[in-house]
Amino acid sequence: MNETKDILKVAMPKGRIYKQASRLFREAGLLIQEDLEDTRKLIIEVPDARMELIMAKPVDVPTYVEYGVADIGVVGKDVLMEENKDVYELLDLGIAPCRMSVIGLPDWKPVMNPRVATKYPNVASQYFRERGQQVEVIKLNGSIELAPLIGLADRIVDMVETGQTLRDNGLVEMEPMFGVTSRLIANRVSYRMKNDRIQSLCDRLQATLSARV
Ligand code: PRP
Repeated sequence: MNETKDILKVAMPKGRIYKQASRLFREAGLLIQEDLEDTRKLIIEVPDARMELIMAKPVDVPTYVEYGVADIGVVGKDVLMEENKDVYELLDLGIAPCRMSVIGLPDWKPVMNPRVATKYPNVASQYFRERGQQVEVIKLNGSIELAPLIGLADRIVDMVETGQTLRDNGLVEMEPMFGVTSRLIANRVSYRMKNDRIQSLCDRLQATLSARV
């Protein structure tokens, strides 16, 4: 068998999603490392599972998969919607559940053309456009909750998981927009060329997810 063709390259998000994704993969019998905190390695071979893990910044996972340097990837629906890359979405992994919401200070008053700060300018713009609301979207890269506190924006669009960040900063969720979980995505060519491998991985993950409920 062609060895390169047999290795599945998997773009994995570094950080908090990795732990949950690796747990799911392990439950499905793919013995990938549960914790990578003790290494700064970015490419991790998993010979037993015939896989190579590419440890990526979450927002870059769809890019690696679109270009085919990773055959498949694990990525949050939030990133998938924002990045809008040409990839197949194969499976809802149900992990890292949270929601995208419009957030503000409790005493927020409507203003003309409010400023909305977010890491997700495309998602936010589309959301307000569909509702006929004119807003000015300001792109930030993190700690979005700062924006209304220091007067940069009237509202923010951001992820809410436990709600702790909102509570700690005196902010309120004004409108939940949609639920977010992590998804398994595939490169279009890889999906054809490595269909058996990808499909059997999908089936194993699906069976594991069904057994979890
Ligand atoms: C995310 C998100 C919120 C927070 C929500 O931020 O942007 O700030 O987590 O989680 P919670 O509801 O459990 O408090 P992250 O930690 O990824 O950092 P960032 O804001 O710098 O992107």
